[in-house]
Amino acid sequence: MEKKRAPFAKWMGNSNEITRLFLKAGQIPDMINLAGGLPEASVYPASELADIAKQVINKNPEETLGYCPIEGLPTLRDAIAKKFSKGNLKLSRENILIVTGAMQSLDLVGKVLLDDGARIAVQDPTYLGALDAWRPRHPTLVPMNIHGHNFNPASLLENTQFAYTVPNFSNPTGSLVSKECRQQLVDTSNDCGTWLVEDDPYGVLYYDSDPIPSMLELSADENNDCYEGNVIYMGTLSKEIAPGLRLGWVIAAPEMINALATAKQGSDLCTSGLSQQITLEAINNGLMEKILPNILAIYKSRRDGLCAAMEAYLTPYFTWEKPVGGMFVWAIAKDPKLNTDILLEYALDHGVCVTPSSVFDPNGEYRKAIRINFTHNPLETLEQGIKRLAKATEQLKL
Ligand SMILES: Cc1ncc(COP(=O)(O)O)c(C=O)c1O
Repeated sequence: MEKKRAPFAKWMGNSNEITRLFLKAGQIPDMINLAGGLPEASVYPASELADIAKQVINKNPEETLGYCPIEGLPTLRDAIAKKFSKGNLKLSRENILIVTGAMQSLDLVGKVLLDDGARIAVQDPTYLGALDAWRPRHPTLVPMNIHGHNFNPASLLENTQFAYTVPNFSNPTGSLVSKECRQQLVDTSNDCGTWLVEDDPYGVLYYDSDPIPSMLELSADENNDCYEGNVIYMGTLSKEIAPGLRLGWVIAAPEMINALATAKQGSDLCTSGLSQQITLEAINNGLMEKILPNILAIYKSRRDGLCAAMEAYLTPYFTWEKPVGGMFVWAIAKDPKLNTDILLEYALDHGVCVTPSSVFDPNGEYRKAIRINFTHNPLETLEQGIKRLAKATEQLKL
């Protein structure tokens, strides 16, 4: 007899075929994975973190191993407020919420700002994780072509709950949003009251130039000692130290921090005290500044290596721009008929995995591009992966 069981919620039916293919790819031996957004594992400061972990557990077992305040350890909130205060931007503890990775920030923002069907303006293409986080709330997505000549945020942000961007080296395209465009978004948000979600995991990964001011900085009022603007800034240790710490922070007006903390209580009660203590110690002893030059050197050379291999093998099939930071190259097919969902199947048969553009399209339709990661694999593997991708593309076109 068939077992009776209550069904899953309706939104679960919206998952896609590509996710199924990725699950399959993980099981194929010798697969070169250019699809993920993974850091190079050897840059994790393992021995430093092990020393710090031992030290903080021994010194402060109660705070490290017990529950923490929902908003995060006051000492860590103060340290983040100090680290990010700059020029006009003056932050206090009330501006900071410690979270379990930036992914939780996205989830919490969805919880506090989205009723069923609410409108969100999203940088197009959009980070898949953000789309996943908000899917259960059935939002209406308004795609924003931020780099277009006629970018007009006023008409796009109208009646939206928030606008979502990854201004530093977007996931998936690796593109950088200009200062003028950031300012335009801030001004429009001030006019219409829409919140601005600034998701910034790649903000430290500038390889060729100095950083552009964040929208958080651009929206700060020099007369306030506590930030009161419309930006909800999301930071994380995932690309700077290690994603396994699951440590991130939100910087926003106290009103927003309180709302997010209320949502966080029903989500995980608090972020790991051990990760918070490790982060505090890492900030205090300058661990990030110490390891960053090595990370930048490795990633920059891999970006150059990947682009050289693409130049050698993919020029007949794709166009792309060399990114000035981040982790990804976005390659667009020259042939408008090339379907990158189908290319993924051919690529997997040739032993290489890339991410097709359809998963980043708010409408799920754009099938002309692929996202290629350059941080996770050594140079030889990157070249080998691109050779395999070229063969797969050639075969698909035959
Ligand atoms: C744009 C963007 N936002 C958020 C995240 C999630 O970061 P975390 O590891 O801090 O949860 C990622 C991860 O790759 C990302 O690319």
